[in-house]
Amino acid sequence: MRVPAKINLALCVGSRRVDGFHDLSTVFHAVSLWDDVVAVGRRDGRITLTMSGEGSELLPCDETNLAVRAALLLREQAGEPGLGADLRIEKRVPLAGGMAGGSADAAGALVACARLWGLDVPPGELLALGAQLGSDVPFSLLGGNALGRGRGERLHPLAGAVPLHWVVAAAPDGLSTPAVYRRFDELTAHDGLVPDSGVPTDLIAALESGDPREVAPLLRNDLQAAAVDLHPGLAATLDAGLAVGALAGIVSGSGPTCVFLCADERHAGAVAGGLSSARGVRAVQRVTGPVPGPCAAALPVAR
Ligand code: C5P
Repeated sequence: MRVPAKINLALCVGSRRVDGFHDLSTVFHAVSLWDDVVAVGRRDGRITLTMSGEGSELLPCDETNLAVRAALLLREQAGEPGLGADLRIEKRVPLAGGMAGGSADAAGALVACARLWGLDVPPGELLALGAQLGSDVPFSLLGGNALGRGRGERLHPLAGAVPLHWVVAAAPDGLSTPAVYRRFDELTAHDGLVPDSGVPTDLIAALESGDPREVAPLLRNDLQAAAVDLHPGLAATLDAGLAVGALAGIVSGSGPTCVFLCADERHAGAVAGGLSSARGVRAVQRVTGPVPGPCAAALPVAR
């Protein structure tokens, strides 16, 4: 089961709610960088996890892992406590990088276990289960382009199938999403700014046009200042991407991965080459989006 990473083409962050989450309008964009999740049957009723690949040695494989929690939640929902599974995850999405790798693993575990156990769970119900696990899990299931509202879990699929070409620059370390949101709160309060989670309609229209030069100036990440404040080296990475000719560069979600929009495949090759030796960049990859998620047909695209 391949589950894609995401970029937020716009992340418009509103005020902190009483439940601690922030109201958002975000334009999610799934890209061609996937974690692979496989579920193999276990007769002893246990749910176990083994992981390999990108950063896997740093992750717990117990019930604190979101993929294991996903399998447990699905089993509880099915009312079949005897169902067992051995989850195997091959990771490629940077760890704690702002590209929803953990959410991708949870989404993959939901779909892989539903199939393994022969559960007929409608995709809409899988999305609802995903929302219980994390704000980005429903989008990891859906993929494509989508507007996310609420804390990001209320999805409206968006048109825009023309591929956009990106260069992804991974940082040597990660950032904690709650810490970045906390810094966002502090910075907006300090600067007297009013957080604005309004829908980025211009970006949505540009995305539909498929022209990267229209999309580039409209990319927006309200968490970027907070991520750069906590990880100052990101400013140099963003500058380096522009210096080698990217149309635009932003921090992906809560960071620290940075993503650079390119005009086409060739241009992405040149930008990737230029960035590969930049200071503070651990790895560079070329990706395209949008790509579908495992439950791509769960919601219709609104016209
Ligand atoms: O939903 P998820 O578990 O991925 O969120 C991780 C953390 O990110 C939350 O505990 C919260 O601190 C922050 N967050 C937020 N507002 C959102 C989404 C996440 O403040 N809309």
